[in-house]
Formats: sequence, C-alpha cells, structure tokens
Amino acid sequence: MPRIVERDGRHALIVDGAPFLILGVQAHNSSAWPAIMPRVWPAVEALHANTLEIPIYWEQFEPEPGDFDTSSVDMLVQQAREHGVRLVLLWFGTWKNGSSHYMPLWMKLNPGLYPRMIGADGRRVDSPSPHCAAALAADIRAFSALLAHLRAVDSVHTVILVQVENETGTWGSVRDFSPEAQKLFDGPVPAKLLTALGASTQSGATWSAVFGPNADEYFHAWSVASYVGAVAAAGKAQDPLPLYVNTALRDPITPGPASTYESGGPTDNVIPIWKAAAPAIDLLAPDIYLRGDERYRRVLELYSRPDNALFVPETRGDADAARYFFMALGHGSIGWSPFGLDFSASTPGAFMIPRVTEATLAPVALNYRLVGPIMREVARLNFEGRLQAVSEPEGVHSQRLDFGRWQAIITYNAPPFTRGRDGIGNPKPVGGALVGELREGEFLVTGEECKVDFKPSDPTSTLQRDFLRVEEGSYSGGVFKPLRIWNGDETDWGLNFASEPRVLRVLLGTY
Ligand code: DGJ
Repeated sequence: MPRIVERDGRHALIVDGAPFLILGVQAHNSSAWPAIMPRVWPAVEALHANTLEIPIYWEQFEPEPGDFDTSSVDMLVQQAREHGVRLVLLWFGTWKNGSSHYMPLWMKLNPGLYPRMIGADGRRVDSPSPHCAAALAADIRAFSALLAHLRAVDSVHTVILVQVENETGTWGSVRDFSPEAQKLFDGPVPAKLLTALGASTQSGATWSAVFGPNADEYFHAWSVASYVGAVAAAGKAQDPLPLYVNTALRDPITPGPASTYESGGPTDNVIPIWKAAAPAIDLLAPDIYLRGDERYRRVLELYSRPDNALFVPETRGDADAARYFFMALGHGSIGWSPFGLDFSASTPGAFMIPRVTEATLAPVALNYRLVGPIMREVARLNFEGRLQAVSEPEGVHSQRLDFGRWQAIITYNAPPFTRGRDGIGNPKPVGGALVGELREGEFLVTGEECKVDFKPSDPTSTLQRDFLRVEEGSYSGGVFKPLRIWNGDETDWGLNFASEPRVLRVLLGTY
C-alpha cells in the first residue's frame, strides 16, 4: 500500500515498499476523456515523467444520484499501466478553484438543497457552502464510491495518491455569512481546535473572542477543512491511500488580508487549523505559480514541516521555472509536478506556456531524464537526510553545500579550465545541482549547467581535495552500473554538467 512515512521530521512516499519520487506532470482540466488522452500521453513520454496527475470529475462520475460511472477511472488506470506510469487522481468534487462547478447537473439544478455561500453583503458568492449537510453527504457517498472502486480494480496500486477536492476555499468572501453559518460563528470555538492550537482560552469562547481580527478567516478554514476532512476520512475507510489537499497560496512574504487570496483553503497561516480539522488528510500541498526565488523558497519552507510532507502538485513548467525542481528536492519534496505541460490545451496560448511543443517540454524533460534513473536513490537519500539540491539563484553564481568533513561548491558558468573561481552565472539562471552522500567521502553527483567541486570543510586544514575515482553511470535495481571513469580534463577543473543527463559517483581523498 502506498503510504507517507516520517522519520526525524523528514518524509518519504513509499511505493512498492521503498521511497518513491514523483516526477510528475498535471494534465489540463478537461483532458481526462478518451478522445483527449491521445494528446496527453505523448507529452508524458517526452517528459520522461513517472506520474500523471489527472482529474476525476464528479459530474462525470455520478451522472445520476447514486449511479456511478467508473469508465473514466478504468480508462486512466488501464492507460497508465500501458505507459508504465503511476497516477495521482484529483477529485474535482465540491470544490474546484473555490467554486462548485464540477458538482453533477442534478445538484446544480437544486440550489435550494445544495446552496452556494452568502457574502457579507447578503449576495450569493460562487463558492459552495461548507455548512451544507446534503452536499457533504453526497460528496462522502461519491468519494467513498471512487475509493471503493480503486480498491477493487487497483490491487497493484497504479494510483499512488489522491487529491481531495481542488484548491478549496473561497474567492470574494472571507467566509459564509448565511444565517446558518452566522449561528455557528456566534457560537463557541470547538474544544478540539482550542486543544490542538494550545489556546489557553476557556472553552465556550466565541470565534471573535478567541481569534479577534482573524476570526472570520479561521472560522472558514475550520469549516472547509472539517468538510474536506470528513470526505477524506470516508474515502480512506474504503481504501487507505495517501490523501492530500492542494492550496491556492497567499503571498508567503507580504500576504495582505484574506480578502486578497482564497480564504479557507490551507494557506500557510491556517495549516494548524487544517491539521486539527482533517487528520485523514496526509499532507497539505502548495500550488506554486509565484515568480522569484525568494517566494518559491519561502513556500517550500512553509510547507515542509515535521507534521507535513512537502509535495509540489502544481507549478510552472516553463524554462525559467524548471530549475525549481532542484530547489524542491533540496527541501525534501516527495515530488514535483508542473501543470499543463501536454498537448491537450483547448486553445493555443492556454495557461503560462504559449504553445506546448517538444521544445517547451525540454527543460522539465531534462530534469526527469537526469533523475528518473536514480529516483529511488534520490528519494531514499532525501528521506535519510543525506541529499542536498539547489537551483541556480538569481544574481548569485556560486553556492556551498555542507556535508560534515566535505563541502560541495557549485558554480554557474565558471571560466573554463579554472579551479576555485566564481562563476559569472548562466545567461539566464537555468542551472541546478544535486549531491547525495553515499558514505563519508563518497557522493552521488549530478546537475545541469553547473560545475560541482569539493573541498575539505576545515578552513585551517592544508589538505587539498583529490578525486580518487569519478565514475559516470546509472543505477539499475539499486546497483550502480559504471559506464566510464572520468579523469584528466573531465575532473582536473571540477565536474562540469551541461544539458545532457550525467550521473557521477565520486570518491574523494586528500593530498
Ligand atoms: C490551479 C488549479 O488547481 C488547476 O486545476 C488549474 O486551474 C490551474 N490553476 C491553472 O489554471
């Protein structure tokens, strides 16, 4: 059974009994149809992805109340097996980007029973009410049917992870102001939440009394998380697959008020509320479309916590952003998955990548060609805390990674045939490096558009680094298979990586 494990605050996604790294791609929203999948698979292949993230639509899955159509699930599972790829299924249920547009028609036609939220001005908001017992019961029934079906048809676990809902929360209102919601808001904060937050407040205190100016947002987060947590728990009772919820982020550095982002979803400030309300959810995951190194890094820091495995289920996959794959690995991520890198966009120009071609897939494809053959080793080393990885920063051209007795020095566009000189940076910051410590003095090293060298950490030492042996090769079944030994020009000035996948096993000594 796939599962998330934690040790010493680090995490692994266990698949087939060992740590697994999701080298993913997420299909466009309307692509999980037999007529469209032929435009998705060629991109999955060109990317060398090992996992496809793709939706299951509630409106397709339950066309009539209680009548479940599993044809889409079956198609995806069968085609994924034919392509040797794992699946992350995205349950487009009650919430999709804060709205309820994937509810089946029979629900949409009955807004009295399945209402949208009411804003502070008394007008309807395009977001489902998290206080609607009928919608919750319907979602529980449908999601349970989905997981029960997976248990029946997927004993080999082609599906390794399931996303519950999609970007939950609400745009345009900080919470539900319907009479029913208002009554709850005016009532006491649940004791379970107070205990989880370690709040010293006496039980019985209202949301406003306990949380002051954050009360509206925290109330909504608790309401949405409780609903999603109940859906998740019901599904998990059918099939205990790992489950996650994705997040429309708030700005991690200058967030602004809740009215400026999707209130109620698992934004960084309400992670503890989500953890308390939805224990059946294994992890809360950031969808990172933000620009800039500092913001990207801050998001990775905020979502990699001892109580939360880091996973990037959606991100930009353009040439500028492909290097963040290394940054995510450096923060212990169990996977990374750009959105919309396939040929199924309904219009050219759809979402971020102007037009997807083999060329636009190339930067992410290089990441996956590089790490694909060593993904088990990378996932294991990361779980053991022996992996460090970095992407080329904006405006900084060398980085240092500490491994006890040794330091790895990464430089970008360093002058050729020089040692110890700083780089001048690639024309655009596209580089990345990954160094794993196999045992003291022996390293797994790879990268893109960078140079990796080592030196003894002790600044008072007069000893110099000696490359005792540098082998290029790959892993097969956990065993390193050397192709050749690097020496002479290939090692005298450090280890250079360009745009071809090269994996090195490096044995260091001193003289
Ligand atoms: C985030 C959502 O989670 C995805 O389903 C998709 O809508 C992307 N945004 C891009 O629009």
